[in-house]
Amino acid sequence: MTRVSANIDELLIDHAHCEKKAAGVAMNLMFAYVDHTDLVRAMGDIVQEELSHFRLVLDLLDRRGIRFRKLPPSQYGARLHAMIDKQEPTRAVDRLLVAALIEARSCERFGLLRDHLPDAELAKFFGDLFESEARHHSTYVRLATEFAHEDKVKARLAELAIAESAIIAQGEDLVRLHS
Ligand SMILES: [Fe+2]
Ligand SMILES: [Fe+2]
Repeated sequence: MTRVSANIDELLIDHAHCEKKAAGVAMNLMFAYVDHTDLVRAMGDIVQEELSHFRLVLDLLDRRGIRFRKLPPSQYGARLHAMIDKQEPTRAVDRLLVAALIEARSCERFGLLRDHLPDAELAKFFGDLFESEARHHSTYVRLATEFAHEDKVKARLAELAIAESAIIAQGEDLVRLHS
């Protein structure tokens, strides 16, 4: 955890960007698949929740006197995005499953930070977010089954998860939540 502890300010700024991005991803999915009522409702809820997380991180930054600023994006998101099929309906499945993987990774990270950060306020902060990201993961996976049979969704999720592990193994020079 030394790397994270030493760069906690940057980690928090990155976290704020991640919450903002998560809201954007859900909003884009809502716009892309408006005829799927279940998806539209679920995305509406996630947009609101991610924006409230974004606000919580901004408040935390304020309390700590850390200025929110632009950060160069990590390669993780771009590399994951590159795996999304161009053709519908596979594209919809991929977009939802990539979002699901990002949620799962955030959730895993929050769990680690909750259990290992020496700073009690931060540990609690990440612990509080843990559960909603786990819920978002299952929502995205469930919604993918609106576009393909469950077996196909499971197989594709496994494929994408393997590719994601390879992306993570490639590493990242920047301090990022998903590095
Ligand atoms: Fe979130
Ligand atoms: Fe989320």
